[in-house]
Amino acid sequence: MKIREEFLSYNKPCFGQEELDGVVESLKSGWWSKGPKVLEFEKRFAEYVGVKHAIALNSCTAGLFLGLQVLGVGPGDEVITTPMTFCASSNTIVHCGATPVFADVDPETGLIDPKEIEKKITPRTKGIVPVHYAGRACDMDAINAIAKKHGLFVLEDAAHAVYTTYENGNMVGNCDNIAAFSFYATKNLATGEGGMITTNDDALYEKLQVLSLHGMSKGAWNRFSAAGSWKYDVVEAGFKYNMTDMAAALGLAQLDRLQEMQNKREEFAAVYNQAFADVKGISVLPDGPWGRNAWHLYMIKIERNGLAISRDKFIRLLNEEYKIGTGVHYIPVPLHPFYRINYGTRQGDYPNAERLYSQIISIPLNPSLTREDVDYVCEAVREIAQRFSK
Ligand SMILES: Cc1ncc(COP(=O)(O)O)c(C=O)c1O
Repeated sequence: MKIREEFLSYNKPCFGQEELDGVVESLKSGWWSKGPKVLEFEKRFAEYVGVKHAIALNSCTAGLFLGLQVLGVGPGDEVITTPMTFCASSNTIVHCGATPVFADVDPETGLIDPKEIEKKITPRTKGIVPVHYAGRACDMDAINAIAKKHGLFVLEDAAHAVYTTYENGNMVGNCDNIAAFSFYATKNLATGEGGMITTNDDALYEKLQVLSLHGMSKGAWNRFSAAGSWKYDVVEAGFKYNMTDMAAALGLAQLDRLQEMQNKREEFAAVYNQAFADVKGISVLPDGPWGRNAWHLYMIKIERNGLAISRDKFIRLLNEEYKIGTGVHYIPVPLHPFYRINYGTRQGDYPNAERLYSQIISIPLNPSLTREDVDYVCEAVREIAQRFSK
């Protein structure tokens, strides 16, 4: 095949005139921090998800940490999460002074396995942080049932799950738990840096709102707008996690084009599925198993019994020979030095996550790609697989 001239980067933000106009409008309005655009974005995002409350933040990490704080996590507590995630899911547990406990994933889907969660429950367990990995919802019926049985909270890491639905068809985030979304640059809806927490619980919402902005009883909007008044009380030692109006302007424009962007992701994922269906030694992460897949990531799996090439070498060839950028999502968190040193985690503790990790490659999937780019990636993967077929 003919090698492309330009490197195909793994991800590229997708935006148009609406994003540019929105940011310029925000700059000109004089509201450079949390102002009317943030309030509008919160309202529109809540409507989109079908949830009662949404609070815009400067990251999903902030949302996870705030969630753990209002759910009362502190020293001595254990919180169960998945090893197959970005470190923010467990680092935030550490930030609260609690102990992250990992429950292995289903070997096929890579989603946290409810049976493994039950095995890890102790008298110190306070809650569960499931991750809707790659844009597919976890088995929330089973996880919520376990939480109810043992009196635990559930805080959903929905960083990958804008557009994902649960088994019952509801949007992820329309929950009585707290869900934390990410709008980081590579996410399905991006604001550069940014996040949103959603909940249907009024009491949790009030606490999250106050804690997200210094613990003040009123935000700048209530203090500095024409209708506001200057007086406020500090009722908690809160944090500074609010979104800016410039980021919210991006978010609003991205929300308007979300369906269009998702259509592209779905179209390209279908092209990949078809292209790899008959390739010996290549399998793909299942779409599902329940609810709608947001196709945040598209992963191929290198089956060593079909291919005489390691995952790492496959990545190297894609990168160096074919000029294709890739990713690996994720190195299991317990294998990182911080966790090994502080929590004694070891190779072999989470066999399903570790096996999956040794096989997966995330290939480009985003709305900025062209159909030619996607066909090119298909051809490159097929060619390497053919070359190393056993
Ligand atoms: C699963 C998961 N959780 C949390 C985060 C943190 O998101 P943010 O960068 O918005 O803080 C990420 C970011 O990539 C993620 O992938």
